[in-house]
Amino acid sequence: MIRLNNIVATYTTRRGTVNAVDGVNLEIPDGITLGIAGESGCGKSTLMKVIYGDVGFPLSLASGSITYDFCDERGHPVTHKNIHKQWFKRISYIPQSSMSSLNPVVRINKQFVDFLDPASNKATVLQEVRAYVEQLGLPPEAIDSYPHQLSGGMRQRIMVAMATFFKPNIILADEPTTALDVVVQKSILLLLMNLQEQLHNTIVFVSHDMGVHYQITHKMLVMYAAKAVEYADSATIFTRPLHPYTRMLVNSLPTIGDDQDREGIPGRPPSLWEPQHGCRFAARCPLATELCRAQEPAFTEYQPGHFAACHYADRQMQESEKAGVVKTAEEAKGTL
Ligand SMILES: Nc1ncnc2c1ncn2[C@@H]1O[C@H](COP(=O)(O)OP(=O)(O)OP(=O)(O)O)[C@@H](O)[C@H]1O
Ligand SMILES: [Mg+2]
Repeated sequence: MIRLNNIVATYTTRRGTVNAVDGVNLEIPDGITLGIAGESGCGKSTLMKVIYGDVGFPLSLASGSITYDFCDERGHPVTHKNIHKQWFKRISYIPQSSMSSLNPVVRINKQFVDFLDPASNKATVLQEVRAYVEQLGLPPEAIDSYPHQLSGGMRQRIMVAMATFFKPNIILADEPTTALDVVVQKSILLLLMNLQEQLHNTIVFVSHDMGVHYQITHKMLVMYAAKAVEYADSATIFTRPLHPYTRMLVNSLPTIGDDQDREGIPGRPPSLWEPQHGCRFAARCPLATELCRAQEPAFTEYQPGHFAACHYADRQMQESEKAGVVKTAEEAKGTL
């Protein structure tokens, strides 16, 4: 279990500070794939960085804490302050863009061994990594390349290989397939899914693509303007969403054989630089009332394991019971 307790993560810039994640509470059970969805800029990557413990200027953890249910080599509890000592071993991160996060002038193998314990035999580990990379269907010498020498798909597969080599308890994958063509995208997702089946670890997976979420995640967190707005089993998210934003995300998903125009979501999220009042989704929400504009809805557990932050979640629940589901799980199937 990873527990996020009231996480507030802030960027400090010349313009001032901005809370990119603002009061997120969440419990992520072991051994599941958690999907995080939400529009660009809502704080998905920032939340991943905080879970990974990659917090340094300009990003800081302004308040809150994270607990992980495992201990370090000496039996001490791991916290957000010392999780970086577990990078690659207990927790790994497949970043949004491997090109911008890999150092272009250093060979990939060197970047990997830099994270290893100084006491470990680097040559032996690298030999094992080469064998592992080969098992995953890549040329073993790929790890000896500079990042630019590999195609985007290969680089991402290498990142997946390195991120899973030590069988970490937690793998954070931040849009691992963005900018790749559909075939490569599918092969990388399948690779991740197969590894998760073998290793039974926790994967936190960020994607804009609701179809991909439907296919590979067990639970989903929907974020909006730095807030968690809904959290539930993925099947519930797709069939009985409680937050109007989630409902709109699900309804924007094209379905096979459906030639109706899909609704986009009109409007834009609020600027996080402005002071926030009430529900942050109110300006775009068809259900919004004075209450929504005045008072921020609490992130509340409406059914066991189903959380939402909407003043009218109860009404939504009754309506989806009355009208049947928004989409059946089958209809919600994406195009993967
Ligand atoms: N280095 C930075 N300095 C200042 N602000 C930042 C920085 N990185 C992100 N932000 C701001 O924090 C907010 C959240 O950014 P984040 O990258 O977490 O969003 P995201 O949901 O991952 O978006 P995307 O889907 O585009 O990747 C945004 O408003 C962004 O402008
Ligand atoms: Mg991001």
